[in-house]
Amino acid sequence: MLLYRGYDIHDLATRATFEDVAWLLLRGQYPTSRELEYMRRELAEQAALPDPVMAAMRLFPADAHPIDMLRTGVSMLGSFDAELKDSSREANVRKAVRLTARIGAMVPAAWRVVRGGETPRCFEEEPSFARRFLTQLNGAQPPDWQVAVLDTVLVLYAEHEFNASTFAARVTASTLSDIYAAVTSAIAALKGPLHGGANEEVMNLLRDIGDAENAAAWARDKLRRKEKVMGFGHRIYRSGDSRVPAMRDLVSRVGRMVNQPHWAAICEALEAVMSAEKGLCANVDLYAAPVLHMMGIPTALNTPIFACARTTGWCAHVIEQLDQNRLIRPSSRYTGPIRRTIPTAARTEFSCANPDSV
Ligand code: COA
Repeated sequence: MLLYRGYDIHDLATRATFEDVAWLLLRGQYPTSRELEYMRRELAEQAALPDPVMAAMRLFPADAHPIDMLRTGVSMLGSFDAELKDSSREANVRKAVRLTARIGAMVPAAWRVVRGGETPRCFEEEPSFARRFLTQLNGAQPPDWQVAVLDTVLVLYAEHEFNASTFAARVTASTLSDIYAAVTSAIAALKGPLHGGANEEVMNLLRDIGDAENAAAWARDKLRRKEKVMGFGHRIYRSGDSRVPAMRDLVSRVGRMVNQPHWAAICEALEAVMSAEKGLCANVDLYAAPVLHMMGIPTALNTPIFACARTTGWCAHVIEQLDQNRLIRPSSRYTGPIRRTIPTAARTEFSCANPDSV
């Protein structure tokens, strides 16, 4: 069972908005309706990106990956935050909200400007994070069902205890570096296909399979060649990812709505063969990828969207780390040869009497 601060992920996925969860993770309590309204307003009002950050986005090549742009952009945002050096808990909560707001604006903005488009408006008057994101990405109001679906995806991706990117964030925070540096580290770790990058790889493989009838042969061929099938396996979950039932349900429902039921069929066929052949369960990325695809979201934005949601979890962990900080510094055991002697000394001895000799 996966809980966010004591709340079951299934309840949150069906009843909470992303803003509810952001407040819950950052403040520790489920928001009242006034607190929710405040959170929505804060996220909307702080979404505007500093002009130099937008200018930097335009410098990326047209084929730059949006997760790389996000990592660089977040790093740069730190220098434009007047509270950067204030490491008090309250200042860090404010920075976390600001960062979440700006990441939500940066992903669609970066995607559009690097392709030669206009800088999209931030829609600061729009109180829903999910609706603002989709409006900014597409330049048009999304239908209500897309807003609800994206909200669920963001809720399911918002937090997941000590995964690799959260650990990276906590290690960085534990050196008393700042929250922007910690989130930059986290995005760098998230990018890899064994972690957050899997949801992009999954969409590519689902396209490759094309039809549920091909799934078993496709997967057996991968396994025979000892290749990984993205969207399966998990370091912690051995008998099922707690987030999969809610995400699987979304794939079926959205698939019926947009008349693309084949994605659910391919995923389910893959689940059957991976379970039978390897005893491996699907993870959340298997089902998140087709959900985003059916909403018309470009596949390259799958991992950046994950990052938008997880920023709340990362920041909550950074704040918790700093509450009782101790440097995270694991030790390792050296197993190589010991007490070796340098065969010939190539370096000239430094002499104080003749400093020009070096
Ligand atoms: N496809 C094929 N085989 C897989 C696999 C996958 N997705 N995930 C694990 N395995 C295999 C391993 O190769 C290993 O096989 P072996 O015993 O024959 O050597 C066995 O299953 C056990 O795996 P294990 O080493 O315990 O997994 P892990 O805990 O080290 O790795 C992941 C966890 C998530 C890195 C791994 O499952 C993986 O790479 N999954 C694909 C990427 C992905 O979807 N990531 C998102 C995670 S939310």
